[in-house]
Amino acid sequence: MLVLGIESSCDETGAAVVDESGVVRSDVVRSQVALHAPYGGVVPELASRDHVRAITLVIQEALARAEIGFEALGGVAVTARPGLSGALLVGVQAAKGVAWARDLPIVAVDHLVGHLLAVFLRRPATVTATATYPFIGLLASGGHTAIYRVDGPSISEIRELGATRDDAAGEAFDKVAKAIGLGYPGGPLVDQLARGGDAARFPIPAPMARRDSLEFSFSGLKSFVARYVAQNGKPKSETELADLCAGFQRAVVRSLVAKTVRAAQAERVGSVVLAGGVAANSELRRSAAEACAKAGLSLAVPPIASCTDNAAMIAYAGALRLARGERDDLSFSASPRTALERTTRKGGGRREL
Ligand code: KG4
Ligand code: ZN
Repeated sequence: MLVLGIESSCDETGAAVVDESGVVRSDVVRSQVALHAPYGGVVPELASRDHVRAITLVIQEALARAEIGFEALGGVAVTARPGLSGALLVGVQAAKGVAWARDLPIVAVDHLVGHLLAVFLRRPATVTATATYPFIGLLASGGHTAIYRVDGPSISEIRELGATRDDAAGEAFDKVAKAIGLGYPGGPLVDQLARGGDAARFPIPAPMARRDSLEFSFSGLKSFVARYVAQNGKPKSETELADLCAGFQRAVVRSLVAKTVRAAQAERVGSVVLAGGVAANSELRRSAAEACAKAGLSLAVPPIASCTDNAAMIAYAGALRLARGERDDLSFSASPRTALERTTRKGGGRREL
């Protein structure tokens, strides 16, 4: 069964054709980065308008690259949550339009579930990471950072073990990049600069390192860099810039890796999976591999195209729902919140959604 996936939760307009075994027939991602770059972050209203302009073309391109027409599809899957409400609605309306006009079954997909299952995507000409249930998923992106125990692909089989109390890891990368005068999004730029840097020059402690909890906090790292810039000005030399990036990145990565390994040990789960845009980070990939090998855990690291926002992961998560016989009717709407139960909320513990 071929499923059309549609993604518009933030600043990427995506459409993809994937089957229920995860084979990616096409995966089109149209980034809005240039649109938002002058503002140093995503402007929700601009994002929605740009999704409207792009969505039809992106869907047509996904079908063209898969060399199929609408009649070859067995269903439609769309990101319905979490994300920017206006942006989500564009994808949801487009998906409902296709489903209604072509009389296809439709399923709403939680973007976070898509990220966690992206490890199972099989892209032509890339090595497929192997993962098996249960696994510990570290999901670190621009909007979310949490550790999950994943026993299967359904919402009821995914349990949050700990999340960030404040900023997401990607958000910290983006804010720090802004503070030191780099562009947007900051993650890839910091990653690049840090490669030539000496992290030891800025021995920033990994946040919440001594706590047993599996929660994260990244706002202190952002404040450290902001204070440094307030006292010393923006880095003046390439070396200072690289060293600061390396010091900040090492603190983020150490925190992410230590808690992920701790979660795997506490849950007695031998398999670890990286997910989300920050999983594209070279130091995280390197450090996670080293720590997992040392702890006797197997690590699955998806290719970068599967880590950052894409519609293939949405199509795949939706294909699994459709294959189980699940359907949503056309009355579902978009929501800014995830459907996964959250245990961490700014240190406040469990809360009603
Ligand atoms: O998953 P994603 O594409 O979108 C969200 O769902 O948020 O993640 C985007 C985030 C951004 O904050 C970006 O700076 C970060 O992922 N990111 C990185 C890298 N590539 C993307 N962070 C660190 N290192 C990278 N190489
Ligand atoms: Zn995402």
